[in-house]
Amino acid sequence: MERPRVGELTPPDRLLMGPGPSEVHPRVLRSMSTPLVGHLDPSFVELMDEVQDLLRCAFRTDNEWTIPVSGTGSAAMETAFANLVEPGDTVLVPGSGYLGERMVEMVARAGGEAVVVDAPWGEPLDTADVADAAATHHPDVVAFVHAETSTGVRQPSVPELTAIAHDHDALVVADTVTSLGGVELRVDEWDIDAAYAAGQKCLSCPPGASPLTLTDRAMAKVHGRDEPVRSWYLDLSLLGEYWGEERAYHHTAPITNVYALREALRLVAEEGIERRWRRHEQVAGAFKAGVEAMGLSLEADDEWWLPSLNAVSLPSEVDDGAVIDSLLAEHDIEVAGGLGALSGDVLRVGCMGHSARPGNVLELVAALGTALDAQGATVDVAAGLAATRRGLL
Ligand SMILES: Cc1ncc(COP(=O)(O)O)c(C=O)c1O
Repeated sequence: MERPRVGELTPPDRLLMGPGPSEVHPRVLRSMSTPLVGHLDPSFVELMDEVQDLLRCAFRTDNEWTIPVSGTGSAAMETAFANLVEPGDTVLVPGSGYLGERMVEMVARAGGEAVVVDAPWGEPLDTADVADAAATHHPDVVAFVHAETSTGVRQPSVPELTAIAHDHDALVVADTVTSLGGVELRVDEWDIDAAYAAGQKCLSCPPGASPLTLTDRAMAKVHGRDEPVRSWYLDLSLLGEYWGEERAYHHTAPITNVYALREALRLVAEEGIERRWRRHEQVAGAFKAGVEAMGLSLEADDEWWLPSLNAVSLPSEVDDGAVIDSLLAEHDIEVAGGLGALSGDVLRVGCMGHSARPGNVLELVAALGTALDAQGATVDVAAGLAATRRGLL
């Protein structure tokens, strides 16, 4: 067989302003080129403790059970559902976005029954609807998406939601993939039983090691299961042998990804989590002000606007694909189109982690204005740029 002719790796230099991955900080990239040690090396065991402590800080939790799951956000998500849902369990899941649909799949594969609590796409769950559904269906688990990447909606009133679930003795699972490290999230104060996230959003890490935290109450359910977790790889009672006291082999941890996550979390700790939330709010707020001054609007109401993901509604005459292609080809900027019910109607613009910087949003507003103008949309690019600059002061 002829030897494949594959050239040197030279990826284009993109500005990542989509729904993830976000820009990776140079310090994180450097950490990934440091030498490997074994996954049971005493130095790595020490580093595991550090990663767990840093993760607790970012999640605002004292949960002992706080680990990076090997794999992308979906692996952490599936770990939560596979472990906390037993065959025959009822799980309330949100019907207001793409990620709720993935929850339905995962609940079914764990042997549970998902009951969808509906809300229009682009709106959060209404706590009254959750209360009604809980009273009718007596759920074992109530799941919600704190930051919906498909719609740019932040779920407000989380403490009310967890109180409803706990009144019914249900555990609460929160998808915090697009909020951890960028949007206010207080796992302990808000009484969340399990929260999972990913590296490549507001933590600005390459995907591959995904944060998960669980309360002792949630872990009591895992340890008291009648039937083993259906996934061997994601079974927390087995993973505990590696991430718990013993530090015994379960699988070979993705060492380089754990290095990267550690460095990304060190950056979070240096900045301070609350200051980081404020930076996201200010920089994304400047972007929002810019597109609004241009004459556009966001899909989400101001009340539940999600700084880390802005779904910009497009004028009907604009072809979303053409705008996305033009931003990539002419400006080297990545943004994404809508998913599901919002397909073709919105542009999804991320403002996450190391991407959430003033220069980036200014560049994006200018490029977006040019691309929309070329599509025949009526946009006031100068007003957009002026409003963005004001928002950054
Ligand atoms: C809210 C949310 N949950 C879960 C996931 C799944 O994460 P991953 O693609 O890293 O597997 C995503 C991915 O974008 C997401 O946005």
